[in-house]
Amino acid sequence: MRKGNLLIFATLSALVFGLAGCRSLPPSKPSSEWTPQEARGAAVYQAKCARCHYPTSTRPLHGPGLQALTKLKSMPSGAPPTDERLTAVILNGRQDMPATPLTDQQLQDLLAYLHTL
Ligand code: HEC
Repeated sequence: MRKGNLLIFATLSALVFGLAGCRSLPPSKPSSEWTPQEARGAAVYQAKCARCHYPTSTRPLHGPGLQALTKLKSMPSGAPPTDERLTAVILNGRQDMPATPLTDQQLQDLLAYLHTL
């Protein structure tokens, strides 16, 4: 194999293994370990988000699955999953996702829950 081919092969393998690594996501925090705030956030999620998003999978429903959302480098749109971005997506909506009006308390609880996914 020529040196150039070897380099391409090494790069491709790194890419393939890197992508495969992304599929084994860090585990969600079990519900038995939720804080009271995270549990309240889970209830908000059930009421407002669950019909469109799976919380424990990355499989799409109406919107993308949200497992490990805040542990990934970027959300499906490419934006980083910071609380600020999440707040904007939740309160304002985004393309096919409708805006979800929440009280500040509900929002804080929901964000805490999203960090357990
Ligand atoms: C009616 C269905 C629906 C509901 C309800 C809904 N979403 Fe979505 N959501 C979507 C769709 C569709 C997208 C993909 C939007 C796009 O094209 O970027 C999305 C995208 C997202 C994204 C990814 C944003 C990005 O930048 O990639 C997050 C995070 C998200 N939703 C969280 C939530 C949360 C949290 C709730 C509950 C407050 C919620 N969604 C409620 C349909 C919904």
